[in-house]
Amino acid sequence: MTKENIPLPSKLIDDSLKETGFSSNNLAIREVNRLVNILEDKTGIDFIRMEFGIPNIPPPDFVKEVEQEAMSRGVHGAYPPFDGIPELKQAGSRFFEAFFNVKVPTNSIIPTCGSMQGGFISQQLAGNLFPNRKKILFLDPTFPVSKLQTRFLGLETEGIDLYDCRGDSLLTAIRKKFEEGNIGGLLWSSPNNPSWICLRPSELQGIAELCDKYKVLAIEDQAYIGMDFRQDYSTPFTEPFIPSVAQYGNYWVTLISSSKAFSYPGPRCAISVISPALVDMKFPNLKDKCGSETFGHSFSHGGLYVTTSGVSHASQYGLSSLLNAACDGSFNFVEHTREYSLRSEKICKIFTNHGFHQVYKTDIDIPVGNGFFLTMCYPDFTGNDLLKELLRYGISTTTLSSSGSSRDEGLRICISFVKPTEISLLEQRLKHFAEDHI
Ligand SMILES: Cc1ncc(COP(=O)(O)O)c(C=O)c1O
Repeated sequence: MTKENIPLPSKLIDDSLKETGFSSNNLAIREVNRLVNILEDKTGIDFIRMEFGIPNIPPPDFVKEVEQEAMSRGVHGAYPPFDGIPELKQAGSRFFEAFFNVKVPTNSIIPTCGSMQGGFISQQLAGNLFPNRKKILFLDPTFPVSKLQTRFLGLETEGIDLYDCRGDSLLTAIRKKFEEGNIGGLLWSSPNNPSWICLRPSELQGIAELCDKYKVLAIEDQAYIGMDFRQDYSTPFTEPFIPSVAQYGNYWVTLISSSKAFSYPGPRCAISVISPALVDMKFPNLKDKCGSETFGHSFSHGGLYVTTSGVSHASQYGLSSLLNAACDGSFNFVEHTREYSLRSEKICKIFTNHGFHQVYKTDIDIPVGNGFFLTMCYPDFTGNDLLKELLRYGISTTTLSSSGSSRDEGLRICISFVKPTEISLLEQRLKHFAEDHI
């Protein structure tokens, strides 16, 4: 693209939007994606795609060999045990001790089809542990699909924005919501998608205590496990351990995704770690929905069996090998993804050098780290208007408000798909944008 091609006429963006039938206010990620595909087709311009949070680092080679070996043994001819193959349950338990410093028995480890399925089942259980507790409380911003799950499950959402509340005020805000008596689950991701805020151990401890006291299920989404690169969590069985609610309480499920940290999104294999105190706990209210009162049984038989009846055999072997290699110290999964933080640092500088500001800039008293996402705003623009204006410059993003954030002015920018070769093009396009919007 030459400088002459941009900005694209606003009419082209508006007409293309009309074609899609999407509302121009608060476009969802998949809607932006579709719109940009149309714009690319119409203009021949390759956009810098920052709307989708898709991992973009290849997995290590050994995992392919492990999967192939499993296939050559014929595992694909048999149903997998739907609560997981023993190898993965063992590897998950070992990994949780090595990197979280928490011992859990193998029956606490349940493989799921991506951590999305673990979140789906956890939300359903959370909303049905007790009568009239149908609300899931989110620490916003939130990965939008988690809230789509809540809606699909017939549950309700409520939110607290991490922009406004941290530390004691976060705990006070959570307690106030819990006191209303209608919250069944509390869900958050840390590092947070997209603000990259990471909850502190004191906050996690407070959350664990509140969840135990009010019998609310803590659903800890570790989609970006180990990717707070301000710390080095890469050495197994050695401090620092990855901060987690699991270190403090009893009412929790921790979702460990392999998609980003292990660059293993395609096989859709993750693990849910259920608190050992919770796994055999009985909740009479679950009986109706799950045919069992026991939490762990409800998770695997009530939730997993009736949805996918387990996770593909080969991928369970693949993930076992990744977790075991991390525990053996032969595969440094943190180092493997550090590339994202380097990319993020560069891209952040390019945005801020051209008049943009980070929305979620500080993590209590220190700068947020460089990770998978950036949050950016530009003076005098709402997030929605900024999204549309940047499309004219061949840059695609989504709004922060589509992630449940209260910061209407901001954008959610995913850096994973920006190729090193596109960095100078991004700079050129943002320079042009800045010159046109002084
Ligand atoms: C916060 C969060 N949770 C869950 C997921 C999905 O993880 P998985 O691929 O393991 O289903 C994502 C993916 O983008 C995410 O950002």
